[in-house]
Amino acid sequence: VRAVEDDPEYVSVGYGGLPNIEGQVELDAAYMDGDALGFGGIMAVRNIKNPIEVAYDLSRYGRNCLLAEDGAMMYAQKNGFEFRSMMTEKSRKRYEEADKNLDMERLEAYGGHDTVCVIGKDPKGSMACGVSTSGLFLKHPGRVGDSPIIGSGLYADSEIGCAAATGVGEDIMKGCLSHTVVSLMQQGIFVQEACEAALKRHMERFDRCGHASGSISVIAMDSQGRIGACTN
Ligand code: GLY
Repeated sequence: VRAVEDDPEYVSVGYGGLPNIEGQVELDAAYMDGDALGFGGIMAVRNIKNPIEVAYDLSRYGRNCLLAEDGAMMYAQKNGFEFRSMMTEKSRKRYEEADKNLDMERLEAYGGHDTVCVIGKDPKGSMACGVSTSGLFLKHPGRVGDSPIIGSGLYADSEIGCAAATGVGEDIMKGCLSHTVVSLMQQGIFVQEACEAALKRHMERFDRCGHASGSISVIAMDSQGRIGACTN
């Protein structure tokens, strides 16, 4: 996750990320440790070089582990995390050239995928996942997507498996999709089928209320290291 955050070629994560409507790169990141169900996240932060490092650090705590905006940046500063401007020439140009008279209700994920999601398992069976994103291009300042929200953007339980999501956060959160995938695995459904069933049911639910979903993708791994993925 850190490597993607540092690479400006990934335009929707970390350095060189997608600016909000005010021209600021605002970042969300989270980490979950599937052994202890430890969870840490930061949301709507600016100029933190590696948001995932702060999220990882916060996952040691059982309280105050999900921090927003100034509080998250204060925590990062006090604990010696590196800061830098996250705008690059390219992200500035992308912002300057974009039409700002847009319909916020039609915001879409960058190229369908806006988040780096890493899920994994070590040889001892410990599972974890980490996610990081600059969120939707031209979003409202302070807008938070699914990524730092436990159960929506990510979920890990070493006894079952882990899952993470990318796409339009508001639509992912409506189905708490990462937890739904893990929950289906807990019921004995194979990892690939769990991804497909979670997304299919979610899309059917959207259809029933006449809501057109934005793009959504999920990835998952079960406790034996078998993987699944699905997209709408
Ligand atoms: N999936 C990331 C976001 O909506 O911000």
